[in-house]
Amino acid sequence: MTDIQIRDVHVDREAEMRLFQRMRDGGGSAHVLLIEAPEGMGKSALIHAFWLDSASHQRARVNLKGAALSVYEVLTSIARQLHPHGLEGFHREVERLLDESPVSVERAFLIASRMTIHAGSADQDRRRLQQQRLTNLLVGELERANPGFQPVVLLLDTYDEATEDVGRWVTNHLLSAVLPLRWLTLVVAGRSLPTPDYLDDWWVLHTLELLRLEHVRDYVRGVRLALSDEQIQLIYDLTDGRPLEVATQVGRLFAKSIQRRGGLDA
Ligand SMILES: Nc1ncnc2c1ncn2[C@@H]1O[C@H](COP(=O)(O)OP(=O)(O)O)[C@@H](O)[C@H]1O
Ligand SMILES: [Mg+2]
Repeated sequence: MTDIQIRDVHVDREAEMRLFQRMRDGGGSAHVLLIEAPEGMGKSALIHAFWLDSASHQRARVNLKGAALSVYEVLTSIARQLHPHGLEGFHREVERLLDESPVSVERAFLIASRMTIHAGSADQDRRRLQQQRLTNLLVGELERANPGFQPVVLLLDTYDEATEDVGRWVTNHLLSAVLPLRWLTLVVAGRSLPTPDYLDDWWVLHTLELLRLEHVRDYVRGVRLALSDEQIQLIYDLTDGRPLEVATQVGRLFAKSIQRRGGLDA
């Protein structure tokens, strides 16, 4: 088993997977899942599991961690992933907005919100209005492109490391724009997340728990490491079931066992 395969072992999180599948496959009114947990608790691993589980659906995912991502780029990326060859109206409007900006500094400001350009508050308001308009435009086109209400999955990871601009857009515009789209399952993962303060039947805030001893055992078995119950207990005690630490410790033992076996074979 190679290192890549070790990363493919995913344990526990059945409740989260059921919750996600229920939203995606149309049970109930909730269709926005907010996954909140500290660093190393397995948010990205879970997003990846949702992604793999949705291979037969229309799906898009964006890691907001990219510090240079602007709202325009996030929207464009979502549009391209969901409809690689469609949504021309949306793409035309993005281009138009960018071309409309009179000076190149402003164009840069529109694209790269990370850049420190000191725009006045009027510019800021205008930019936010444009972002909102573009968001509504994309949502409208997605609706038109989906007359049969097929399930669509949108996964946003690492909300906490998004730029201020993108974070504000998710909170103020994206969440409310997707509210009426019951066929769209939106998952947002982050260390702390905004919770909409209006209505509450369409979104669920879920926190991730530590892994239990049995999950550490599943993990050790998953990577096909021959450890005794005592050794598994030891890993559990050392890591408290924190996924990142479990993965690190088991990964080390796994590497050692490969080394030893290599040594024996030589
Ligand atoms: N449920 C899980 N089963 C197995 N390994 C996991 C699980 N959750 C996380 N890991 C591992 O723990 C490490 C940290 O997980 P990650 O998803 O990056 O955490 P986060 O995004 O919350 O910071 C990764 O190496 C990942 O593969
Ligand atoms: Mg992560």
